[in-house]
Amino acid sequence: MKIAIVTGASSGIGWEFARLIAAGPEPLDELWLVARRRDRLEALRRELPVPARLFFLDLTRPEGPEVLKAELKRLHPLVCLLVNAAGYGKFGRYDAVPEQAALGMIDLNCRALTAVTTAALPYLGRGARILQMASTSSFQPLPDMAVYAATKAFVASYSRALHEELRSRGVTCTAVCAGWMRTEFLEVARRGADSGAVSRFPFLQTPRAVAEQALRDSARGRAVSVCGLWNQLHRAAAKLLPAQAVMWGWKRIKD
Ligand SMILES: NC(=O)c1ccc[n+]([C@@H]2O[C@H](COP(=O)([O-])OP(=O)(O)OC[C@H]3O[C@@H](n4cnc5c(N)ncnc54)[C@H](OP(=O)(O)O)[C@@H]3O)[C@@H](O)[C@H]2O)c1
Repeated sequence: MKIAIVTGASSGIGWEFARLIAAGPEPLDELWLVARRRDRLEALRRELPVPARLFFLDLTRPEGPEVLKAELKRLHPLVCLLVNAAGYGKFGRYDAVPEQAALGMIDLNCRALTAVTTAALPYLGRGARILQMASTSSFQPLPDMAVYAATKAFVASYSRALHEELRSRGVTCTAVCAGWMRTEFLEVARRGADSGAVSRFPFLQTPRAVAEQALRDSARGRAVSVCGLWNQLHRAAAKLLPAQAVMWGWKRIKD
């Protein structure tokens, strides 16, 4: 059985990835979709041309990824594509982001992403591809998104190293360094935090455009996908300039 797995499929870029993969050139027997919201995943399943197996899981709980691992072990499928899109951020200083929300970001963006990847790795054959949702926030530290940016630096670093480790197996791993996208992310980032800490979102992109670019970059075997000229300039600036200078620029852009 050939499958693709998408976490965070109930909204935003995960939803777009699921639709693009289902309509894509790779013939699949099933698409495995993971998120907490049952109604959203069921609605998505109805519009897909490929059968979907739904997993209503809270991936911040250690037993979440375990459910997926057990199902992989039981059915022993061939995983052609794995997309880890589940993730969230919170806006605000250290004293505006509740501890539970800060630790939850680490649990979901880092721990769960690693657990799902590790669970899927034995089932990835030659030519299989992994896409990990990182962010342009992985390029430098971000005051007012400190924990979030640190989690995405983890994702980018982990993904790039994994890309090298998997080369001999003919498997690729692409870190998708997305800039601002028009998704529920922004609403979630404001909720229960300092909603005014980040108030400008220049060069907002659609999740569909970012997902299309990411799938193209992954098919070309690229370790990193950065969509759009502004985000590419951001990446170059973060490589060339001291972190202090990039953080200074960020503070002026975000307010
Ligand atoms: N939007 C941006 O500006 C932006 C920029 C760069 C990178 N990103 C990254 O892109 C990825 C997708 O974000 P998005 O923009 O598409 O935001 P989104 O629309 O809020 O999607 C987030 C997804 O993560 C899932 N999720 C959240 N908490 C979860 C949990 N505890 N267990 C399982 N699933 C959970 C959500 O599903 P349920 O709520 O149904 O569980 C949802 O499907 C994230 O990793 C984010 O960090 C976003």
